[in-house]
Amino acid sequence: MNIIIFGPQGSGKGTQAELIARRRNFPYISTGDIFRYHLKNKTELGQQVAEYVNTGQLVPDELTNKIIQDRINQPDCTVGFVLDGYPRNQKQLEFLSQITTVDYAIVIELSDQEAIKRLSGRLASKCGLSYHLEFNPSQQAGICDKCGDQLFRRDDDQPQAIAQRLAIYHQETEPLFAVYENKGILHRVNGAKTIDEVYQQIEGVISQAAG
Ligand code: AP5
Repeated sequence: MNIIIFGPQGSGKGTQAELIARRRNFPYISTGDIFRYHLKNKTELGQQVAEYVNTGQLVPDELTNKIIQDRINQPDCTVGFVLDGYPRNQKQLEFLSQITTVDYAIVIELSDQEAIKRLSGRLASKCGLSYHLEFNPSQQAGICDKCGDQLFRRDDDQPQAIAQRLAIYHQETEPLFAVYENKGILHRVNGAKTIDEVYQQIEGVISQAAG
């Protein structure tokens, strides 16, 4: 089962994609996490993408497409995968459709105002988990429940970079929904609910469509 999670920045797509992947035993693939891993470890790729990621711009398609192709070709993805943050524009969508199929495209809907509020309280972990100071705190303040590492604020969670990311989402990513809608695999869920309620909506879609 191949699932894509769409949604504006802060809508909780990373939170939900990780939950679905963990509970259904699929690999969770986040292009943002892959880039942040390379940034943190100062790899050659990290140096290439640093300026784009930190200012909220899209990393060039050739680089991003190659990373996704390599990841999807790994043996663990033969059972399916949950994709978060890709595709984000028409070229990426075309590339993805050449290398694999998509079963469900889920859009988590949330207003920009609410999304900004969520990002301002976010704490991230290097293992990919996201926490929120108020809505989803870690058990021990500042420490990840899963990997035990120190939580941090993302460099791109600054007002200017957030505005840039949301603008790109509306201009380049939202138009992709029509493609999946025409295939009958696009499902919209209300993101302005608790984490568990959003998850239940997504599970409902996947289970119903699968049955
Ligand atoms: P990426 O890491 O994908 O970031 P993003 O798209 O900006 O999305 P976010 O991670 O900010 O939001 P989210 O919806 O996942 O929210 P989360 O679950 O954390 O990309 C980063 C950068 O990498 C891009 O800007 C770009 O430069 C580059 N990049 C990535 N993919 C690319 C691509 N395909 N092409 C080119 N470049 C690419 O939740 C947010 C907060 O809200 C958390 O604190 C969470 O705990 C909380 N929360 C979640 N759900 C709820 C809820 N229901 N109620 C209350 N709080 C909640």
